[in-house]
Amino acid sequence: MSHTDAKVIAITGASSGIGQATAELLARHRARIVLGARREDRLAALAQRLSQEGARVAWRATDVTRRQDLEGLVALATERFGRLDVLINNAGIGPISPLDDLRVDEWDAMIDINLRGVLYGIAAALPVFRSQQSGHFVNVASTAVHRITPAQGVYAATKTGVRVLSEALRQEAGDSLRVTVISPGFTNTEFAHDITNPETKAQIAMGKATMAIGPEAIAEAITYAIEQPAHVDVGEIIVRPTAQA
Ligand code: NAI
Repeated sequence: MSHTDAKVIAITGASSGIGQATAELLARHRARIVLGARREDRLAALAQRLSQEGARVAWRATDVTRRQDLEGLVALATERFGRLDVLINNAGIGPISPLDDLRVDEWDAMIDINLRGVLYGIAAALPVFRSQQSGHFVNVASTAVHRITPAQGVYAATKTGVRVLSEALRQEAGDSLRVTVISPGFTNTEFAHDITNPETKAQIAMGKATMAIGPEAIAEAITYAIEQPAHVDVGEIIVRPTAQA
């Protein structure tokens, strides 16, 4: 029996990419999975597939910019499975562009989803974790936190915010809650679809085509952090292509 066995794990942004790959891997590790994302058709299809493979799965349409949606996702976990052991704050977007473009609506969206969405996840799950006297936040940041590059300023700022919040939360959490940051590099997902600046989009597409790793590599890192014994807190894992500068 692994430490992941029967854990109740909620994942935001579970309809594609890293979130979906993580749901699939954790289901194989016999966790009970609570899927959240906006695209209901995809969530329903993923939940059905995982259930057919023997997993226990629940899902709920969840927009992380809406605090009540995160509260609903956490409530679904506790109502269906009696508890919540892990919240994976994975949902995120990266419509990156140079600041001169003034794509202010995209800046706002990144702040709302990448940063505010993680805060809403914390607000929803923290009281449950406190009452259980156990719980684990896994927050997805980025290698953009560690290496600042042109066009990634706002994105990197939101992900740096996630990392800073996670460390504050870890320090406040005491000896019963765990906090992990996962920082992926170039990963082959739908992530670049949001980019509207043509030059930036082409650059990212080139990086993706030449070196991106599969989302399964990130799912493995998340699973590693979760399956450690309760007294072992994995602080941060950076996973990137070997070829990434
Ligand atoms: P993806 O685009 O395949 O998945 C992102 C997921 O978040 C999707 O399911 C999307 O529908 C969901 N999402 C977007 N806005 C949402 C909202 N308001 N409410 C709920 N869900 C929402 O991309 P990927 O790569 O799987 O992204 C997952 C995380 O990994 C993100 O936080 C991203 O910033 C991070 N990341 C990705 C990298 C990459 O190269 N793919 C590199 C570094 C970090």
